[in-house]
Amino acid sequence: MSAPTMRQLGDVIPLPASVRSDPAADFRVPSGVSVSAAPAAAAVADELAGLLRRVTGFRVPRDDDGVIRLRLDETVDEAKSPESYRLDIAADGVTLSAPAAQGLFAGVQTLRQLLPETAQAEVVLPGGRIEDEPRFAYRGAMLDLARHFYSPADIRSYIDSIAQFKLNHLHLHLTDDQGWRLEIEGWPRLTEVSGGEGTGIDGQGPGHLTAAEYADLVAYGETRFVTIVPEIDMPGHVNAAQVAYPELTCDGEPVQPRTDAEVGYSSLCASKEETYAFVEDVIRVVAGLTPGPFLHIGGDEALSTTAEDYRTFMTRVLPMVGKYGKRAIGWHEMAAVELPPTAVPQFWRIEPVDAGVARAAENGHQVIMSPADRSYLDMKYDESSPLGLDWAGLLGVERSYDWDPADRLPGVGEESLLGVEAPLWSETLRSLADVEYMAFPRLVAIAEIGWTPRADRTWPSFRRRLGAFGPRFGAQGVNFHRSPEIDWT
Ligand code: ACM
Repeated sequence: MSAPTMRQLGDVIPLPASVRSDPAADFRVPSGVSVSAAPAAAAVADELAGLLRRVTGFRVPRDDDGVIRLRLDETVDEAKSPESYRLDIAADGVTLSAPAAQGLFAGVQTLRQLLPETAQAEVVLPGGRIEDEPRFAYRGAMLDLARHFYSPADIRSYIDSIAQFKLNHLHLHLTDDQGWRLEIEGWPRLTEVSGGEGTGIDGQGPGHLTAAEYADLVAYGETRFVTIVPEIDMPGHVNAAQVAYPELTCDGEPVQPRTDAEVGYSSLCASKEETYAFVEDVIRVVAGLTPGPFLHIGGDEALSTTAEDYRTFMTRVLPMVGKYGKRAIGWHEMAAVELPPTAVPQFWRIEPVDAGVARAAENGHQVIMSPADRSYLDMKYDESSPLGLDWAGLLGVERSYDWDPADRLPGVGEESLLGVEAPLWSETLRSLADVEYMAFPRLVAIAEIGWTPRADRTWPSFRRRLGAFGPRFGAQGVNFHRSPEIDWT
């Protein structure tokens, strides 16, 4: 007899690439359970031991001959993603193997969902083998800190929430018209003036990250295998920078702080050398604080920059990102200019706006897909949503799941995709609880789109697995929208 709370081996989000159940091989976690791991996997093993401790009440030490074994198997096929893993659950023990620590981490997230979320008298894991790897290397969430700021503790909590679904990038939108949220050495007024009281939408989103707080967040993300992608939005969306440093406008005249939600009225001055001194300094500082490979330079909605100025600006700024060792990501408007080979356009519109992204893909660029009508988590779920916007339409859970990034843009197929990202703009979101309400469960849908083989994804299966996940959000203290599209347990 199985314990009543035992899950099926395939009851995991994102759905693994291959699941072979063996009901004769269920594993009853014994009181003497211990976890063994190579030194390079010690942190991941400790995480698993902590999860087991919580649900079994047992001590769960780490030793050399545990019945639960984490193996780094560097002989695995080199073509395999470092995030791939194999999980064998048998009556006499559990073996998780992967080519790298991030694969072991991914496997532990799978194990976490196979374990109960709360303590049980008897804990049983379903027998069989999972072999798993991601569809896309880049699976991201974006959080807008500019319209409303969220504290480092809130951001860490969000990292925890997304990492369990194997999302591996958190893009932080750090600057916009309403606020500048990262301390930049040498430019103190950015955060003194534009990152404090009275900033954000309606003046209700104050705060900024010190350089040390940002570095701590980056380091915290590394422990969850979540890479931070910082965004400095330019040449538009820069009113907060210009309030702090009026010399960044073309006429040098002071500008007023803005706390409304308009877009498209501010621009850096493409014809001034001061602009490039500022931008290069900011890129140098942000790159220096960011060990991850990417630096996002925005580039969207530069509606008060002429096309010629936009080209001049981007053509000078894009190489700066490479000069400081980073790979540029930019919203798809960036694809209007000649891009350095490693640059990544991020598509965000509903319709193909022009041929720029397809042309970039044809020239070998990788693309991130974030179409607003399917992946913008700030859209309302339905007419009754108390939070959110609706300019890209209403976005229910099925609609956020039932699309595919390889179908969105002619000329941008599977092989051109670096991955998928779900942005969350924060005009209407004042707290972490608001953020979670909009993200969950739709961000879970995007996570599965990014991980699971396309041919294996179906809405009825996702809907059932998501419904069963509901109590876990509750146990984790994560707010979520109890969408009527889902039968929540
Ligand atoms: C965007 O939504 N302006 C990228």
